[in-house]
Amino acid sequence: MTSSSTSHFSLSCFSPSNLHFSSQTKPPKPVKQRVITGTISEKPPISPPEKPSKHPIRNIPGDYGLPLIGAWKDRQDYFYNQGTDEFFKSRIQKYQSTVFRTNMPPGPFISSNPNVVALLDGKSFPALFDTDKVEKRDVFTGTFMPSTDLTGGYRILSYLDPSEPNHAKLKKLVFFLLSYRRDHVLPEFHASYTDMFEALEAEIAANGKASVSGPNDAAAFNFLARAFYGVNPNDTKLGPDGPTIIALWVLFQLHPIISLGLPRLIEDPLLHTFSLPSFLIKAGYNRLYDFFFENSAQILDHAENTLGLARDEACHNLLFATCFNTFGGMKIFFPSLLKLVGGAGPKLHLDLAREIRMPLMKSVVYEALRIEPPVPAQYAKAKKDFVVESHDAAFAIKEGEMLYGYQPLATKDPKIFDRAEEFIPDRFVGEEGEKLLKHVLWSNGPETESPSVENKQCAGKEFVVLIGRLLLVELFLRYDSFEIDGTTDVVTSLKRASF
Ligand code: HEM
Repeated sequence: MTSSSTSHFSLSCFSPSNLHFSSQTKPPKPVKQRVITGTISEKPPISPPEKPSKHPIRNIPGDYGLPLIGAWKDRQDYFYNQGTDEFFKSRIQKYQSTVFRTNMPPGPFISSNPNVVALLDGKSFPALFDTDKVEKRDVFTGTFMPSTDLTGGYRILSYLDPSEPNHAKLKKLVFFLLSYRRDHVLPEFHASYTDMFEALEAEIAANGKASVSGPNDAAAFNFLARAFYGVNPNDTKLGPDGPTIIALWVLFQLHPIISLGLPRLIEDPLLHTFSLPSFLIKAGYNRLYDFFFENSAQILDHAENTLGLARDEACHNLLFATCFNTFGGMKIFFPSLLKLVGGAGPKLHLDLAREIRMPLMKSVVYEALRIEPPVPAQYAKAKKDFVVESHDAAFAIKEGEMLYGYQPLATKDPKIFDRAEEFIPDRFVGEEGEKLLKHVLWSNGPETESPSVENKQCAGKEFVVLIGRLLLVELFLRYDSFEIDGTTDVVTSLKRASF
């Protein structure tokens, strides 16, 4: 592991206390300084020796079925017969356990071994973060890995275990990107999301409603290009095509584990049985790559001269961190945040609009990340034998076994959260509320911990929480309230700010 004592890119620039939105009618209130310790000089605490479990060891229930057939059957249940939530909940009932054996999609013929031990409660799930016990090599997308032809021939940072030398170098590169461009984040967010709200207003005026997803995609990509690379995509050869190319490129990587809602007889053979050939997306990917290469010279200089990385490897990683990790994350998180806040009704809107700097806003963002974690699946492989505990039992995990966690069940664990299935906007307000933050796990780690080169926690953790808050700031500086269509992210009205 590279020593990191000299490098120190503080991410405290993304602290909420650095939000400088000015409004005469809504002056920012002083907020309690929360020190963000996302520095790469920090060492994680040494994990204490394993305490003997207070529960007797129970055999891990469940089985993998017959070769090929068991995995195929589980895949049918997961996508078509039951759906994700029911797939897990029915097995929790059947085995009377939140830890059990199952197969995870895709199975045959894409993944060579679909067998996993599923961890489906808030107590056992964090075993996936403990890099002393588990290995995170090539498990970012689960029991299969997309072809490296889709990423310039490189195994990208998200696929590297912290024990691999390039993990530290590449994670430092992402920390550098966030720190180097920090002064551009707020103004560019404001510019891009003003455009988005104007587009939504025009659409609602014309058609009575507007889906957030298209305008959000355009705003997110413009924001990231301008904030991180200082360029407006529309002024380059890429034009407005970024979001569409990214959506297709991500589809080529994730098609084995998603459903597009097509009829089973078409979708299952097409998406879940063989990998789509990567040459089909090569021309689009090359356009994205050229865009990043042409607009990141100073960041690539840092990668080459200070971190000792090859320029093209660094550039493929910048592209991935921006387009997959960040754009992909925002594509899920922002519509979810707007849907949940929209559905919570005018009382919450009024409270947020009156006091957009107060702890309620932070709590709302954490609650959205808890109830709908944008990346719901995490995998890790046991490096040694160890014991995993659920609330009511202990299970012996063997070296080499693949562990899988479905995060919504961990973060909606009724043994940890009251009214766990409900969106409670002020859940994390106050001293007692803040104590629960350690159970918010969207970043592949507890919300109370920080990404470092030694762990696999999301490098953009503070950035993501910041932009979630910024979205609410933009929304409630501009509007008093808004309505959505049922439980979708389709906006049907926007009520302009009146105070
Ligand atoms: C809503 C937005 C985001 C979400 C939901 C998200 C979520 C995650 C999750 C769950 C992981 C761990 C995956 C695993 O190992 O199983 C991860 C890793 C990572 N994320 Fe994020 N992320 C977001 C935004 C960002 C941003 C803004 C950046 C940086 C610009 C970023 C960079 C990374 C990197 C580099 C890793 C790999 C870390 C490592 O290898 O140690 N992400 N992210």
